[in-house]
Amino acid sequence: MSELVGRLEALISEARDAGELAELAEALTVAAREAARAVDRSSSESDVELHCGMVGESEAMQRVYSLIERVAPSDVPVLVYGETGTGKELVARALHQRSPRAKGPLLALNCAAVSPNLIESELFGHKRGSFTGAVSDRDGHFVAASGGTLFLDEIGDMPLDMQAKLLRALEERVVRPVGSAKSIPVDIRLVAATNRDLAELVEENTFRSDLYYRLNVVTIQLPALRERAGDVALLARFLLGRVSREVAGAPRSLSPEALELLETYPWPGNVRQLENELRRAAALSDGVIGPEDLSPEIQAARHRSAEDG
Ligand SMILES: Nc1ncnc2c1ncn2[C@@H]1O[C@H](COP(=O)(O)OP(=O)(O)OP(=O)(O)O)[C@@H](O)[C@H]1O
Ligand SMILES: [Mg+2]
Repeated sequence: MSELVGRLEALISEARDAGELAELAEALTVAAREAARAVDRSSSESDVELHCGMVGESEAMQRVYSLIERVAPSDVPVLVYGETGTGKELVARALHQRSPRAKGPLLALNCAAVSPNLIESELFGHKRGSFTGAVSDRDGHFVAASGGTLFLDEIGDMPLDMQAKLLRALEERVVRPVGSAKSIPVDIRLVAATNRDLAELVEENTFRSDLYYRLNVVTIQLPALRERAGDVALLARFLLGRVSREVAGAPRSLSPEALELLETYPWPGNVRQLENELRRAAALSDGVIGPEDLSPEIQAARHRSAEDG
């Protein structure tokens, strides 16, 4: 494309008269029309059907979609289990969007990413001056998500003392901001996610059993990518369409050999890892992605499957 622009610039500067310029304008119109058609084609190539905002037709995923459809309309808390990169955040978004709260806010807090001494203020808010750095009153996520959905990611990493406070907020539907004497009523639907076994954490006394029972009403178990028969090809096509838009030049496609490697690899990092792999491969190749454009560990999947077979 930049090559074309350069050529056109040269032609325009050399054009001697209005007739030549008119010819150039005509050529440009034709080129623009062709480019538009190519974009159309590339977006329909990655036009994979979405279910609840997700890609995948496997039986394991069909069960997930049907569970989302069934529980989204109510206010029951939902606990989403799944390995890293399986799409837990997408499930939270789907539950919100398919609920009567869809027009309300969706707020997310990653319990593992917030320092333990700040998590209470993040969730419940604080009054100005209640601790160093609290320079003004601030709403917490519970208040900000009122009328909508609160997504607590990595709930297994919530400190024990906060677990007690969270349970109280859920049961009494009020929160008290740090440094405040007044409680504020809140109205949220809770979706929590974890990649850890909460029942095991309860056994180890690092997760409160009363909170566990409160959260463990409806659970959605997201299958690992290696358990979704047939979905790697669909996801690869969809994600390649997405990452192709980030790189210059023509949209990328996958050679059958590369696709076979992707389907053989076990994907410990699940969909996120697949997306990053495709982003890398798209940046390395400028047309068809072949086996040589894939990471060594994925290329090695071929030898392993050859040995197995
Ligand atoms: N079924 C799917 N269809 C399309 N994209 C997906 C699907 N599942 C996951 N993704 C994409 O994969 C990436 C990871 O998904 P997400 O962040 O929801 O995973 P996660 O389970 O929350 O991961 P982590 O445990 O690491 O937080 C995102 O870019 C998301 O859009
Ligand atoms: Mg996540």
